[in-house]
Amino acid sequence: MLAQRPPMGWNSWNTFGENINEQVVRDTADAIVAKGLKDVGYEYVVIDDCWSLRQRNEEGRIVPDPKKFPSGMKALADYVHSKGLKFGMYSCAGTRTCAGYPGSFDYEFIDACTFAEWGVDFLKYDFCYKPALANGPILYNRMGMALKASGREILFSACNWGSDSVEKWIRSAGAHMYRSTGDINDSFDSFKNIAMSQVDKLAYSGPGCYNDIDMLIVGMRGKGNVANGGCTDTEYRTHFALWCLFQSPLMIGGDLSKIDETNLELLKNKELLALNQDAETRNPMMVRGGDRPIFFKHLENNEYALAFFNFTDRDGWGDIEYYDLGLTVASGYGFKFRDIFSGEETGVTFGHFSTGIKAHDCRILRGTLVKK
Ligand code: GAL
Repeated sequence: MLAQRPPMGWNSWNTFGENINEQVVRDTADAIVAKGLKDVGYEYVVIDDCWSLRQRNEEGRIVPDPKKFPSGMKALADYVHSKGLKFGMYSCAGTRTCAGYPGSFDYEFIDACTFAEWGVDFLKYDFCYKPALANGPILYNRMGMALKASGREILFSACNWGSDSVEKWIRSAGAHMYRSTGDINDSFDSFKNIAMSQVDKLAYSGPGCYNDIDMLIVGMRGKGNVANGGCTDTEYRTHFALWCLFQSPLMIGGDLSKIDETNLELLKNKELLALNQDAETRNPMMVRGGDRPIFFKHLENNEYALAFFNFTDRDGWGDIEYYDLGLTVASGYGFKFRDIFSGEETGVTFGHFSTGIKAHDCRILRGTLVKK
């Protein structure tokens, strides 16, 4: 069964946009292995929009652009598989993709077969140019069935940007993950707003189908297809921490041939990945809202995460009364936490916890209940 935990991989769109080709895909597959990303769980190498010719062939099949993919998709899939990775592609539920290439509307079963023949393991499925009278649940369900009928196990990644209350029906249409927001860009406001827009909807996310709050911008540093000024290293860490805490799929969007050491290490941060891939797959509860939100998350082995964020432009404080987690002093229980970034232990605390948090930063604690 696919997607028992949030899927992890890389997608071409954020950096390369329409400038995608087989060399980029091969280099990325090489980098995922060489830079240790495969070892920590990144698996899918996904080509987004703009990979095909503008017209289908006489048989009605989509044809890869021979200038961008001279060796063809089967050879590329074989290469990705030879690295122990999985190969992903992109199409659209409408008549054209968002960038104007052929979409799968009315060709769903043919396209699913084509993808299966090429050795595709993952399909991202967009929502542009959808006839107004064709509805989302029917179109995603149709492709969900077409992928199953193809005879190959293919992870189905829906992308309708949260329209039509997607969280209410997309799991039943066979999708394994679903984009719930508009597109991310490389800026603090973009990732913050995207993440916070989904707080009330995270409970729909769980084994088999996860809320995908979009591809990561970690380490893009203001370059690439979704450039918008870039983020500081602190902000990239806050971004990645939110995606991990919210158990979003983790699809790297940066250029892995150029990523710096700090951000590469961030993508491999075992403590954050453990929050994302936790066996209990429970969404966090928001115990304090506003621009210094606090989240609490149940984890496997009777552990808990307590996460403080500071979205303001000033250094400040995060304060939590344990009563707001349901824990009274009279219970005799307190928390023993460890800071997941510094490893520093907090000792056992009763009643409340306060911590300074720098502007745009976060502090994440992991620990257990302890009796006095
Ligand atoms: C958008 C989608 C992006 C990217 C783009 C390609 O609809 O949200 O992630 O796939 O289309 O044109």
